[in-house]
Amino acid sequence: MSIKLNINNAGLRSHELDQTRFLVEAAFHNLESKQGAGNDFLGWMDMDETAAQFAPGEFERIKAAAKKIQGQSQVLIAIGIGGSYLGARAALEFTGGSFYNQVAKRNGGIEVYFAGNNISSAYVSYLMQIIGDRDFSVNVISKSGTTTEPAVAFRIFKEKLEQKYGKEGAKDRIYATTDAKKGALRGLAEAEGYETFVVPDTTGGRFSVLTAVGLLPMAVGGMDIDAVMQGYRDARARYAVCDLDNNDVMRYAATRFIMMLKGKKIEILSNYEPALTQFGEWYKQLMAESEGKDQKGVFPVTANFTTDLHSIGQFIQDGSRTLFETVLWVEKSACDIAVPHDPANVDGLNFASGKTMQFMNEQAMHGTLLAHVDGGVPNLIITLDELNDHNFGELVFFFWKTLGVSAYMLGVNPFNQPGVEDYKKNMFALLGKPGYEDMKADLEARLNAVL
Ligand code: PA5
Repeated sequence: MSIKLNINNAGLRSHELDQTRFLVEAAFHNLESKQGAGNDFLGWMDMDETAAQFAPGEFERIKAAAKKIQGQSQVLIAIGIGGSYLGARAALEFTGGSFYNQVAKRNGGIEVYFAGNNISSAYVSYLMQIIGDRDFSVNVISKSGTTTEPAVAFRIFKEKLEQKYGKEGAKDRIYATTDAKKGALRGLAEAEGYETFVVPDTTGGRFSVLTAVGLLPMAVGGMDIDAVMQGYRDARARYAVCDLDNNDVMRYAATRFIMMLKGKKIEILSNYEPALTQFGEWYKQLMAESEGKDQKGVFPVTANFTTDLHSIGQFIQDGSRTLFETVLWVEKSACDIAVPHDPANVDGLNFASGKTMQFMNEQAMHGTLLAHVDGGVPNLIITLDELNDHNFGELVFFFWKTLGVSAYMLGVNPFNQPGVEDYKKNMFALLGKPGYEDMKADLEARLNAVL
């Protein structure tokens, strides 16, 4: 088993978990029976390369396209935002570390960079410098096909491709991942003749990392996507049975719920491996966009330790007591470097010489755990045996299902995101997009009054 949950430091009284049993079991059944709110977006529960939500042969086409991209380019620019971006980046860093683009790659992997997740021209310009004169391909990813940020970035990189390779040559280097039938990107891809991949109707953005949305960039970067899917399948089997005492998805969801009832309304997902920084970003979107509705939900934040012990550590230890912490701990490091011995010992560090950094990291984790518990921050620990392709798929499903159960316990629909639309409408109106004319004058008057 590669994921273990420890709730011994959550400060629960012996009866507390037991008394959520009825609710957590009801939420679990609601999810499994596919009767709950948002039940037309449950594709993530049965996602498999052989399942109906992949178009026939899609999984093999993803692998073939990845090989083709690796053969034609040294760099892939994956363009997308939110659920069409966070998962693939989390996966590449989870398995390849913070410098995944610079270190040796497996399976013929090439460099993969991400664009279209902001509206910064400086960012695009730096990325252009990274590409330089090298060959590159583009994977534009948007389920709706109408999102502004990726649309802007795609125009820019498409133009660069066309300047470099001509219109025909560019077509052969553009891969579009979008809805099977609708949206501007689907129309453009068909008109131009790009190779396309499908975001299934039953799969919302933050549940799409194990479709072509995430799998194509992962495979291009050298990940073994068969192993990723096997991890997903293993987790699906492991957390299938409704049994609060033995199903860690249910124990985690129930504990989060109890934390919330106690006024612990902020969950910090902390890690001690920089390779997990982007996984934290993926988790934040998953939890916040799914649970934060109807004035309910646990607010998800992340902390990258030991780095952040030197910044937000003070608040965690001693600030307002509204926090609980879930530590993502990795047992086995990708490599283990020992602290060298220095006879002069001017820095006084010889007490640590010969000790491995992983051992020191573990002592930092243990010390922090006890300090935070003493400071009134309940701690949960999720232990992974190591960071590899299989475990990425497994952990993704673990969080998906926990979220599904948690949200149904709260009584919210985890599978929509109505709040994300509000800023988009205002931005479209201010930019003068047709159809939003009525809002523009009012917004401008409000801005003039306050800016
Ligand atoms: O989870 C979601 O649905 C959102 O974060 C979307 O993924 C994000 O807005 C990008 O949307 P799209 O893929 O339609 O461009």
